[in-house]
Amino acid sequence: MRHLRTLFDLTEIEFRNILDLSHQIKRDWNQGIRPTLLAQRSVALLFEKPSLRTRLSFESGMTQLGGSTIYLSEDVGWQTREATSDFVRVLAEYCDAIVCRTFSHSTVEELAAFDALPVINGLTDLSHPCQALADVMTMEELAGDLKGKQITFVGDANNVCRSLAAASVTVGMKFRLLGAPPYYFEDCWIDKVKGRVPSADILQTTDAKAALADADFVYTDVWTSMGQESESAERKRVFGPLQLNSSLMKLAPKQCKILHCMPARRGEEITDDVMDSDNSAVIQQAGNRMHLQKGLLVWLGRQNGWKV
Ligand code: CP
Ligand code: NVA
Repeated sequence: MRHLRTLFDLTEIEFRNILDLSHQIKRDWNQGIRPTLLAQRSVALLFEKPSLRTRLSFESGMTQLGGSTIYLSEDVGWQTREATSDFVRVLAEYCDAIVCRTFSHSTVEELAAFDALPVINGLTDLSHPCQALADVMTMEELAGDLKGKQITFVGDANNVCRSLAAASVTVGMKFRLLGAPPYYFEDCWIDKVKGRVPSADILQTTDAKAALADADFVYTDVWTSMGQESESAERKRVFGPLQLNSSLMKLAPKQCKILHCMPARRGEEITDDVMDSDNSAVIQQAGNRMHLQKGLLVWLGRQNGWKV
C-alpha cells in the first residue's frame, strides 16, 4: 500500500506526476471543469494539533472532488482508548484514507505500518510534505521551470524547512538555509536528501549576504513550532536577528518573492510590510494547499487501486 509519510515515499517521477496532476486539476477547476473524481470516498482527518489550512484545504478539496471528510480529534481515544492496530483497522472499515497531524513522526509511521488504509502526513515534528509539494506548485506558478532557481529559508530548520529542502532540490533548485546553529539540519536529513538527489545543492549559513544575494524566493516560518512553546524565549533570542524585515530584504534581489507557510507571527519572524508587500505570495501559497492535495488524493487513490 502507498502512503505519504515523508517526501521520500515518492520517486522523483512520482513527485513530478503529482505536481502535473495538481496543476491540471487547478486549471480545470478554474475553467469550470469539475469532475467528482473522489465521489463517495471519505477521508478521516486525525489531528492532534490545531490547523486552519491543512484541515480546511483537505475538507474543501474532498468536497470539490465529490467526497467527504470526517474530522477526528483526541476524543476518539486514539492512542489512549485502544491499541493502534485496532483503531486503524476499524477506521479502515469506514474511511478510504487518513490525514494525520501529530507530534511524533513515528505515530504516522505506526499508523501506516498496518497498511489498513493510505496514510498522509498532515504535519509532524519531523516534516510537512503536503506543504512542500504545494510550495513547489506555487513557485512553478510564479516562475515556471525551477531548475537552477534559488530558495532561501530564513530561520529554524524545522518540519517545514526539512520538507522544503527535500522538495526544492528534487526539482533542481538550490537551497540555502540562513539559520542559527544549533538549529540547523540534522546530518541524517541532509544525508537522506543527498541519497535521493546526489547533486542536491544545499548550504547552511549564518551569512545573510551570501544566503540572500541570489535568492529567487525567500521563505520563513515561525521560530517556535507547535509543541516547542517552553523554548519560546530562547528561540526569540536566537532567531531575533533573522527577522524577515525590510532591512534584511535589502540583501535580496528586488524581484524576489516572499513565501511563508502560515500561520505567521507578525512582528516576530516576519514584519507586516514584508508579509504584505507586492512580492509576497503567501495567500496564493495557502490556496494551493487545496489544489495540490486534490492532486495528491487522486494520485494516491490511483496508486492504491481506487477506480479514479
Ligand atoms: N501551513 C499549515 O499547515 O497551516 P495550518 O497549521 O493552519 O494547517
Ligand atoms: N513549523 C510550524 C508549521 C505550522 C504549519 C509548526 O510546526 O508549528
